[in-house]
Amino acid sequence: MDKLLIRGGRRLSGEVIIGGAKNAALPLMAATILASGTSSLTNIPDLRDIRTMIEMLITLGAEVSYDGCRLTIDSGGLVSREAPYELVKTMRASVLTLGPLVGRFGTAKVSLPGGCAIGARPINLHLMGLEKMGAKITLSEGYVVAEAERLKGAVIFFDIVTVTGTENLMMAAALADGVTRLENAAREPEVKDLADALNLMGAKIKGAGESVIEIEGVEKLSPIVDYSIIPDRIETGTFIAMAGITGGEVLIKNYQAEHISPIVEKLLETGIEISEESGGLRVKGPKTLRPANLETMPYPGFPTDMQAQFMALMCVAKGTSVIRETIFENRFMHVAELRRLGADIDEKGNSATVKGVKTLTGAPLMATDLRASASLVVAALAAHGETVIDRIYHLDRGYERIEDKISRLGADVTRIKE
Ligand code: EPU
Repeated sequence: MDKLLIRGGRRLSGEVIIGGAKNAALPLMAATILASGTSSLTNIPDLRDIRTMIEMLITLGAEVSYDGCRLTIDSGGLVSREAPYELVKTMRASVLTLGPLVGRFGTAKVSLPGGCAIGARPINLHLMGLEKMGAKITLSEGYVVAEAERLKGAVIFFDIVTVTGTENLMMAAALADGVTRLENAAREPEVKDLADALNLMGAKIKGAGESVIEIEGVEKLSPIVDYSIIPDRIETGTFIAMAGITGGEVLIKNYQAEHISPIVEKLLETGIEISEESGGLRVKGPKTLRPANLETMPYPGFPTDMQAQFMALMCVAKGTSVIRETIFENRFMHVAELRRLGADIDEKGNSATVKGVKTLTGAPLMATDLRASASLVVAALAAHGETVIDRIYHLDRGYERIEDKISRLGADVTRIKE
């Protein structure tokens, strides 16, 4: 398993280009199942999760080619309707094949994802929605089997806001008979990006990006050509945090101002200067970070996917911050690792009180999940001495060539291959 060796204490400076959004690319890849023929997507980041979804599409019978940016998927010859356990267990987002498979073929067999490092993460709301649309759902031997001759439009209310749940049902409803109304739907930019792409494929979706989405089912969708994925707002936020904690100055290119504004507004409170200029987003880290309290929320609130990186910043702020995680029940795995660097964090339930310390000191660390790993990189960049982060395959799931990007900004970082 690869490790990352970081010698902290260097100010990051220079320019960085943000890649396409993982969480927009994955549902769009699944959406290609809905149409027979060849689709192409661009700005697809070269990540482990993208490779897993490619493998999933191939397993279903698609022909796929990928050059590290442009992805071509021919879903004309899909023969299988089954998303196997071997793939779902490595990536939960594989469950995004459920909606498109039932929507197009009237049948799907998808392995139930188990719990994961950040929480139990059930998919009951995805299944409730499909049932409302007339699918017969059975659970057998660890698999969900969904069957329907043709799904029917329905009114579906989510009692918890779910991103992939909204996406799955939006895809299923695109080919259903009649109108589906999703209430209390997720408003994340990735949901809107998926709806935009589906509409280009011939779907009739209104309201994506708001909390009520209406989908008028159509008979058939066409493949999508050369659709470019939105930039990754979490990667953008992570680079702002890295520039901020090192007191550096970085120009971030390829970002969407509207998508990152919940992150930017919060990070401005910490004293990081963030301003838009013609060439990109200019980020300047302060001499001393200010503390700020945080509560994670569905979009347009502060994203849970940036909570860990924010906590790393607060570890060296001058004062005390309280961070509350409201989306996932177990998303503080980074706390114990940050403490190994000398952070002063008191964790109680879903709340963490972080008392800023003057300095962090390098130590061997273990990456536990994707965003926790990103927070360890943020902290290690500011820590004195050497930090070795083990199990960085978690990081490779969601950050493209991270060590290249930060070393070009002046960080002292090496990937140790094993
Ligand atoms: N939930 C239920 N039942 C359901 C679905 C969700 O109780 O049927 C609960 C979850 O357990 C959780 C909350 O609802 O407590 C929100 O979960 P959501 O369904 O929104 O999460 P997700 O769709 O599985 C996506 C992202 C995650 C991101 C979350 C929250 C993708 C592929 N994944 O997951 O991204 O943290 O939304 O914004 O879009 C990451 O990139 O590191 C990552 C984990």
